[in-house]
Amino acid sequence: PSLQSYHTFGLTSSSQQLAVFSSPDECRRAYSRATRNWVLGGGSNTLFLDDYDGQVLINQITGITHHETSAGHRLRVGAGENWHELVTTCLQQGWHGMENLALIPGSVGASPIQNIGAYGVEVKSFIEQVEGVHLDTWQPFTLSREECQFGYRDSIFKHALAGKVLISYVTFLLPTPARAETSYGELARLNAPTPAAIYDEVIRVRRAKLPDPAELGNAGSFFKNPVISNAHFQTLKARYDAVPGFAVDESHTKVPAAWLIDRLGFKGKTHHGVRCHPTQPLVLTNLGHARGEDVTSLAKAIIVAVNETFNIQLEPEVRLVGREGLVHL
Ligand code: FAD
Ligand code: EPU
Repeated sequence: PSLQSYHTFGLTSSSQQLAVFSSPDECRRAYSRATRNWVLGGGSNTLFLDDYDGQVLINQITGITHHETSAGHRLRVGAGENWHELVTTCLQQGWHGMENLALIPGSVGASPIQNIGAYGVEVKSFIEQVEGVHLDTWQPFTLSREECQFGYRDSIFKHALAGKVLISYVTFLLPTPARAETSYGELARLNAPTPAAIYDEVIRVRRAKLPDPAELGNAGSFFKNPVISNAHFQTLKARYDAVPGFAVDESHTKVPAAWLIDRLGFKGKTHHGVRCHPTQPLVLTNLGHARGEDVTSLAKAIIVAVNETFNIQLEPEVRLVGREGLVHL
């Protein structure tokens, strides 16, 4: 079956088999029928560069339960629920805090994997625990927030547990009273930062900058923002006065990859069927007929140029999948 409609970049790849599951048991039954499997949520952070020689398993575990406690609103959510719909439901119910994360595509189950973040907030602040099963033994597990080892676009699910587990439920705690986070650039200008105003503004800003995957294939930021030493940042600053940087800790600075890519002139440029997006150069888009190799050759050209000019190694944020599974650039 074609995978084009199952990943937002929309490459015309296929897999040997495709199965949809709505419980861990259903996943297990489908899993045992194939020799190679790839678990997928909304496909908004995954590019199938080539035909996948195995089975793609689409997670549709649903359900939301809510309990109000003295600490806040506790929600246990099926991993196949849509992330943005969850944020919208929370706002409508008066369960506040996650508005900054509105309009991020994909599933709830993928949210802890790269610790999704936007506009000054990361999902780790709301995650109480992650439940799932190990794909080799089918033993269930529960990990606390600490055990998930969250970092910037990072967690244990990208390291020790990468490709080894199915995440089935995520439990969130939205503390009361909620705190409005408006430190990020565009949100700072809000006069009355009510949860609804933050939600609306985040959606407005995102729509203005980011391409809608329903109209133009993309997977959001293609690269992570690099984190470099303060010393390295000072050498860059001496040569490029305008280079932006954000303190990460006492000795490290995060530099917007968009600025580096923009500065090198890639913004708006097309390479075969892939374009570096004109309003957000960190995003690569599929103009309609891109092939996997068009994506990798533009991505590699950007990585090489950024390295040669700035001595910074960009790393993909997206997951690249080839015939046999994960591939690295
Ligand atoms: P998928 O692409 O389906 O899967 C991602 C990875 O997780 C794969 O390796 C997959 O195997 C694994 N996986 C998925 N579900 C499970 C599961 N239940 N159990 C085990 N493994 C699983 N991200 C941000 O952080 N911030 C943003 O602001 C942001 N903006 C975006 C804007 C656009 C337009 C797009 C297209 C993407 C954006 N993203 C952003 C990236 C993306 O939305 C997130 O990474 C999201 O969490 C991906 O969810 P998904 O269900 O689509 O993941
Ligand atoms: N910039 C340019 N030229 C441009 C656009 C941006 O130089 O054309 C520079 C500017 O200095 C700007 C800076 O880049 O201030 C940051 O841009 P933006 O606010 O758009 O954020 P970003 O760092 O590029 C990150 C996330 C996004 C998230 C936004 C908002 C990563 C890899 N990306 O992008 O997440 O939505 O912040 O918080 O951290 C994603 O992960 O897929 C994603 C879209």
